Amino acid sequence: MAREFNTVGVVGLGTMGAGIVEVFARNGIDAVAVEISEPALERGRATLAGSTDRAVAKGKLAAADRDALHERVHFAVGLNALHSVDLVIEAVPEHLDLKQRIFAELDRVCRPDTILATNTSSLSVTEISVATTRPNQVIGIHFFNPAPVMKLVEVVRTVVTAPEVVADVEALCARLGKVDVTINDRAGFIANALLFGYLNHAVGMFESHYATREDIDAAMKLGCGLPMGPLALMDLIGLDTAYEILDTMYRRGGRDRRHAPVPLLKQMVTAGLLGRKSGRGFYTYERPGSPKVVPDEATPVATEAALADGARAIAKVGVVGSGTMATGIIEVFAKAGYEVVSVTRGAEKSAKVCEAVKTSLNKGVVRGKLAETDRDAALGRISWSATLDHLADVDLVVEAVIEELSVKKALFASLDEICKPGVVLATTTSSLPVIEVAMATHRPADVVGLHFFNPAQVMPLVEVIRTIRTSPEATATARAVCAALGKTGVVCGDRSGFIVNALLFPYLNDAVKMLEASYSTADDIDHAMKLGCGYPMGPFELLDVVGLDVSLAIQRELYLELREPGFAPAPLLEHLVTAGYLGRKTRRGFRDHSHR
Ligand SMILES: NC(=O)c1ccc[n+]([C@@H]2O[C@H](COP(=O)([O-])OP(=O)(O)OC[C@H]3O[C@@H](n4cnc5c(N)ncnc54)[C@H](O)[C@@H]3O)[C@@H](O)[C@H]2O)c1
Repeated sequence: MAREFNTVGVVGLGTMGAGIVEVFARNGIDAVAVEISEPALERGRATLAGSTDRAVAKGKLAAADRDALHERVHFAVGLNALHSVDLVIEAVPEHLDLKQRIFAELDRVCRPDTILATNTSSLSVTEISVATTRPNQVIGIHFFNPAPVMKLVEVVRTVVTAPEVVADVEALCARLGKVDVTINDRAGFIANALLFGYLNHAVGMFESHYATREDIDAAMKLGCGLPMGPLALMDLIGLDTAYEILDTMYRRGGRDRRHAPVPLLKQMVTAGLLGRKSGRGFYTYERPGSPKVVPDEATPVATEAALADGARAIAKVGVVGSGTMATGIIEVFAKAGYEVVSVTRGAEKSAKVCEAVKTSLNKGVVRGKLAETDRDAALGRISWSATLDHLADVDLVVEAVIEELSVKKALFASLDEICKPGVVLATTTSSLPVIEVAMATHRPADVVGLHFFNPAQVMPLVEVIRTIRTSPEATATARAVCAALGKTGVVCGDRSGFIVNALLFPYLNDAVKMLEASYSTADDIDHAMKLGCGYPMGPFELLDVVGLDVSLAIQRELYLELREPGFAPAPLLEHLVTAGYLGRKTRRGFRDHSHR
């Protein structure tokens, strides 16, 4: 029989603590909510009230249940109020000495059988536990932000945590409607160990003006389906907390430079820009604690006129190539009203692409998403050709041929001879340097990257890559075209992986390394990222879909360009590729798909 927890204490009612109190009280458990001072207690009370009021307003909580919830919470200043609780969860700032002091005091104040838990994200639970005389009753219970919403709890056992304490806490998680993964005491556990390198990298991109905050966040939301972008997430976590987590992970986790906090973070924390809780971080919020972003001096003007500013007029578009991407791109342009010239390497290929475009458009008609007349009009706007000469009068060329530099360079040299002046020449490369392609022409200022995602008809994101030679007009044109296609164009520099792949693949690679180190299982790691961070797929699910060979190739490129030791491809990934386990396409990758 698992132990019953009737009263639970929560220490620290900040970003996490207030949410944790709500989780207990919502599930019928009395909570003693403790803060360091009256004003801090008031803030915690206001956070809880704000969150439950929002839940009532959204129809997710009945007003009577909210009132009952509040009756279950007893607020107090000082740890003495915790003398008779069954379990304490500490959620004070991420400093080891502070947590150790609090645990030593909890050890004195609480009953001998009380379980003492920390919500730390990165500190050693073991080191915290030895500040007490009961390390076998100390455990990590790591909730995710926002605690009432996120389903995951990481239960962290140290080498001395008693097995029955682990079992009791697991049963409690189930009672709270949470899914738990139980793991050993390692810096960052599962989710943060995989998350924070990515977050820090995104801050680095922002710091170096590689892309704007809006574009970095939009890229990850629209390109990967994440619930929020990395900079918005940093604001939610709190920049002070994020800084401490990174700093601890750097020191505890083998001094991986990717965890060395980007200098900008420290500057922002020093300047009091802590994120949502202080009303300003990467973004500006309506008031401290508010989730509502308000415009500030860095907010881009997104009107149509602003988008068109400096952009050249585009009416006729050439698309070169006959693969999946070219097919999708032809359809997208034709549907958006552009005249399209498709160029392939022969009539047979053209016929195939034409068939594929027709099939795809017909699907839209069958699903009721496209009128027959619009389908016919779109098809009528496309002309099919097997010679580049037909691109003499287009305004924009989108190249989507095989991912080989020599082929692309030769093609761009030809385009340079054929196309009229002022044309924007775009490559859809996902891994080659755009500047290499640009320099094959005599007009590198007119060359950009237009990185569509697969399937182009569906994915709402396009990365616009600006090389060091690209003119502002060419970039503005590319961005305006994306908007006209109904896509979000995000502008970034010409570095391996652009925004999305540069941020996504190292994280996937890290997940493979974590599995390889036997820290956790593929199932638990997938669970942790989906339920703790709201990712639509776990890393191993995604790797199997993308293809392990493709993932390895991208990771190699990133490693070769940046020489970052942490980007070295995971040996397990290399071995699986060598063994022919490439993911769903070969029916076996990290998982066996032969029966599905
Ligand atoms: N922010 C996140 O997204 C997140 C997610 C999971 C876990 N965590 C972890 O949760 C813990 C708390 O982080 P946070 O972001 O909520 O911090 P926070 O700064 O938002 O809140 C900390 C609270 O602790 C209070 N406090 C400080 N000293 C105290 C004391 N002696 N007694 C009682 N209360 C005291 C502060 O007044 C403040 O309200 C950290 O260990 C952090 O790593 C944070």
